[in-house]
Amino acid sequence: MKIAIVGTGYVGLVTGTCFAEIGVNVICVDTNSEKIESLKKGIIPIYENGLEEMISRNVKAGRLRFTTSLESCLNEVEVVFSAVGTPPDEDGSADLSYVLEVARTIGRNMQKYVLVVTKSTVPVGTAEKVQAIIQEELDKRGVNVEFDVASNPEFLKEGNAINDFMSPDRVVVGVKSDRAKKVMSKLYKPFLLNNFRVIFMDIPSAEMTKYAANSMLATRISFMNDIANLCELVGADVNMVRNGIGSDTRIGRKFLYPGIGYGGSCFPKDVKALIKTAELNGYKMRVLHAVEEVNDKQKSVLFEKLQKHFNDDLNGKTIAIWGLAFKPETDDMREAPALVLIDKLLKAGCKVRVYDPAAINECRCRIGESIYYATDMYDAALDADALMLVTEWKEFRLPSWAVIKKTMKRPLILDGRNIYDKKDMEEQGFTYHCIGK
Ligand SMILES: NC(=O)c1ccc[n+]([C@@H]2O[C@H](COP(=O)([O-])OP(=O)(O)OC[C@H]3O[C@@H](n4cnc5c(N)ncnc54)[C@H](O)[C@@H]3O)[C@@H](O)[C@H]2O)c1
Repeated sequence: MKIAIVGTGYVGLVTGTCFAEIGVNVICVDTNSEKIESLKKGIIPIYENGLEEMISRNVKAGRLRFTTSLESCLNEVEVVFSAVGTPPDEDGSADLSYVLEVARTIGRNMQKYVLVVTKSTVPVGTAEKVQAIIQEELDKRGVNVEFDVASNPEFLKEGNAINDFMSPDRVVVGVKSDRAKKVMSKLYKPFLLNNFRVIFMDIPSAEMTKYAANSMLATRISFMNDIANLCELVGADVNMVRNGIGSDTRIGRKFLYPGIGYGGSCFPKDVKALIKTAELNGYKMRVLHAVEEVNDKQKSVLFEKLQKHFNDDLNGKTIAIWGLAFKPETDDMREAPALVLIDKLLKAGCKVRVYDPAAINECRCRIGESIYYATDMYDAALDADALMLVTEWKEFRLPSWAVIKKTMKRPLILDGRNIYDKKDMEEQGFTYHCIGK
C-alpha cells in the first residue's frame, strides 16, 4: 500500500517511519523545505530515541521518501494522513488553518479516490469541515471523484514514540464508511497481529476521545500537585500518599507524580481547546478551568521555594538548572516549565546556568544568550548558589554529589521532580527542598 503523511513533525515523522517499517510505501510531506532537505540528507530534525536508525533503514529500503509537494504525490497514494500542527489560537481554540489548508490542497489536486485521515488533534466537527472543503474544491473544478474522511487521533508519547506506535494500547478510528473502515483495518492489522485493538467509532466520538484522554491525564497531574501543596502545609508526605492511593486498582499508579506542572505541545493546548469547545456550545468545563489554574501556579512553585530560602534576595545569585525539555527523552520545549522558571530567575537578577542532554539547541533558539549553556551537569553546577532539578533525565538520578558539593558555592538543591531522597541529601551536607513533603 502507498500512503502520504502530511506534516513531518513529532507525530508525522514517527507515523510515516513506523508505517514504512511494516512494509508500507510512505511519502512524508512537509511545507518546511529546510526540514525536508535535512531529512533527505539523513539529518533528523527532532530528538526521538531510535528514530534515526529506523528512518535510515527504511529510506535505504526505498519505502520512505520526503517531499515538499503534496500535489506531486497525491494521486499515487491510497491514503493521506494529515499530521500537521494545531497550535492554540489567541482565544484558546485549536488553530485549524494548517489542517484546512491540507484539505484544500487535496481538493484542488485529487483525481482519484483517496481516504483522508486526520491524525492531528482537532475539535469535534473538524472532519466535517475537511470533507466540506475538499468537496467545495472538487465542485469548483467540476470534478466528480469519491473520497472518504476519517479521524485517527494519535496517542504516542514523545520519548517513547516508536514503541507507542509499534505497540499501541489501542488505536482509535472514527469512520463513516465501510470502505474507510476496511482500509484502516488493513493498515493497523500488522501492528496488532495477536490482539486487534482498533476501536472503531463515529468520527465526532473519535475526535472527542483524544481531548478527553489528555484532559483526564492533565487532571490527574493537577490534582496530585494540589494534594502535594496541601501535604506541605499539613506535614504529610505526598510520596507516601501517592503510594497509598496508587495501589488502589480503581485509581492505578500512573500520572500521580507531583512536580512543577505539566507542559509540552499537547496537554496545555488540548485542555484550553476543550474548554473553548465547551464554551462555544454553551457549557463550562469547571474541572478543566481548575486544572489549568493549578498548573499555571505550579510552574512557579520551585521559584517561590528558592525565593523563600533566600528571603526574597535573589539578585546576583547563580542558579543551575538541570533539564530544560518539558519531559525526559525529548528536545521539545513547548510550554516547558523551565521556560517560566528561567524567565522568573532572570527577572529576579539571577545568573542562570543550564544543562539538558537534548534540548540545549532548542533552548538557545527560544531564549538566546541571556543564560549560560553548560557542557554537562557538573559544568552547570559550577559556583552555583542553588541547583534546581527541572526535568528528570536518567543521567541526573545518581550524580557524584561529592564533586557537586565541592564546586557549588552553596549546597542547596531544589528538586522539582522528587527524584532524590531527602535524608540521603541531608546526610551528604545539602539543604534539600522538594515538592509535597
Ligand atoms: N507531539 C506529540 O507528542 C503529539 C502526540 C499526539 C498528538 N499530537 C498532535 O499531532 C499534531 C502534530 O503535532 P506535532 O507535535 O507533530 O507538530 P509539529 O509542529 O512537530 O509538526 C507539524 C508539522 O506540520 C508541518 N506543516 C504545517 N502545515 C503544513 C502543510 N500545509 N503541509 C505540510 N506540512 C505542514 C509543519 O511544517 C511541521 O513540520 C498536533 O495536532 C498535535 O496536537 C502531538
